[in-house]
Parts: sequence; C-alpha cells; structure tokens
Amino acid sequence: MPKTQSTTPSPEELKDLCVQLAREAAALVAHQRDFLSRHGSIAQVTSTKSSAVDPVTAVDKASEAQIVRQLRQLRPDDGIVGEEGANVAGSTGVSWVVDPIDGTVNFLYGLPAYAVSVGAAINGQFVAGCVVNVANGDCYFAAAGAGAWVEREGETVQLRASRADDTATSLVATGFAYDSAWRAKQAVLLQRILPRVRDIRRFGSAALDLCHLAEGRVDAYYEHGTHPWDYAAGAVIAAEAGATIQHPGLEDQGAIAAPVIAAAPRVWDSFVDLLESSGATQPMEG
Ligand code: IPD
Repeated sequence: MPKTQSTTPSPEELKDLCVQLAREAAALVAHQRDFLSRHGSIAQVTSTKSSAVDPVTAVDKASEAQIVRQLRQLRPDDGIVGEEGANVAGSTGVSWVVDPIDGTVNFLYGLPAYAVSVGAAINGQFVAGCVVNVANGDCYFAAAGAGAWVEREGETVQLRASRADDTATSLVATGFAYDSAWRAKQAVLLQRILPRVRDIRRFGSAALDLCHLAEGRVDAYYEHGTHPWDYAAGAVIAAEAGATIQHPGLEDQGAIAAPVIAAAPRVWDSFVDLLESSGATQPMEG
C-alpha cells in the first residue's frame, strides 16, 4: 500500500532515501555486470541513444526501473526525472533526479568508475544526494546543512574540498559531450585551459568528478552539456564539502550545452576568471 504524503521531508530524510535507493541499485548493477561477464557480454545488451558513441545498456534501464518502482511505492506523489526516460510530474514539491549508471562507457569497458546517482530537490533546489561508485563500493552522500561524507571500506569520513588557491597548480576534471560538433568546440576550450592548469583529468563520470572535487582528489571541474541527472547529487556533495558550484539546476539545459562549473573555495574566483578568458563560461549553442 503506497504511503500518503503530508509533510515535506527534511534534507536528511531525503538523503537517507537517496542512500538506500542508490545502494540497492548499485547492488543490482554489480550483480548484472557479473552475470553478463560470466554468461554473455555487455555488448549484447547495449544500444545507442543520442549518437553512435552514446551507449545505453539493459542494465542502465533495469537500474532506473528499480529506483522508479521503489520511489512510486515509497513516495508516490513526488516528481521523478531519470536519464533513461523516467519523467513523473509530482505534487509535493519534492523531485528525484536519477542517473542509473553515470559513466556508462566505463561500465561497458570495465573501467572502475561508474556510479549510481540519486539526488533530491525541494521546490527545484537540490538538497540531498548519494553517488555510489559501483566498481569499488565508495558511497558518497550529503544533505543540505549536514555536510558531505564518504563511506569506504566500513569507515565514514567527512569530505572537504582542497585548499588549492592557484589555478596554475590546480588539477581540473572535465568531460565531453556525445555530440561530435560540441566535442570539437570543447577541444578548442581545452586547448586554451590545459596550458594554464596543473593538468586535466577525464574520468568519464560527471557524478564522480563532483565527488572527487568534494574529496580534494581534484581542485576544480567544468563541463558543458551535462544534464541534471549527471550533477544533481554530486552538486550537493561538492557544495557540502565546501566547494563552490554553479549549475543550471533542475531545468535541463543540456540541449544548449550550459556549463557546470565547480571549484575548491579558495581557487573559485581565479578558476572562473580562467574559464571566462577561455570562453568557457557560456553555453556552447550556435
Ligand atoms: C556521462 C558522464 C561523462 C560526461 C558526459 C555524461 P553517462 O554520463 O557523466 O563523464 O562527460 O557528459 O553524459 O552517459 O555515462 O550517464
């Protein structure tokens, strides 16, 4: 019997549900990957979406279906947006933003950086999120006002963004769109940015990029053309770890390649200056 919803849950309550849903979906993804690698191949259950290099697997779809099914049971009146098509209008002011596998290309190739990401928003503001790296079990979570944490090998540790204060020695994560014309433009931006930072990292999961920023494993992150499911949970985790972040919010501006920009607090201003002078603070449309 679905529960009826009267009051708006707190960010901490939403975070607990994000953690539960993301962990259970991560278990499903791990189990299906294991099964497929023993009894078939992931390629057999893979098709493409926006372009020939944008994959989706049956496992992405099963993971999203499980999360949506659970949410419809637990919080039937909330909205849901999911990468693989979930689109439920809600009436409570609470919205769930689901990436069933962020880093699908890594998943396909067996590279250990793919994650389930579940974020929650109240009246359009992201307030809670959880990102589970399926490959190593790292579970990142945060609720507005309650800090950001990672649970790793049985220990729970609070996350703090780095103390970097100089772009020239900052390690910067980024990513590239699936659209070839956008990639060409992203390459031009990269050409301007790369000589002016310590180095670039392209891990292949925007959600994990933001968790890495929260953990001080990188100092800054920027990317054009991501969607709310890529950054909803990671944005709360990065912000609660003290990073500064600018993103398009719940409204999907992926189609105009609007950027997400995030950095450790002491390097934020100069990082934005660097991106601005490289032409990287604007959407890439046109
Ligand atoms: C992708 C990853 C990647 C980013 C792309 C995203 P997906 O998500 O987050 O790092 O560069 O823009 O689309 O397709 O693996 O869910």
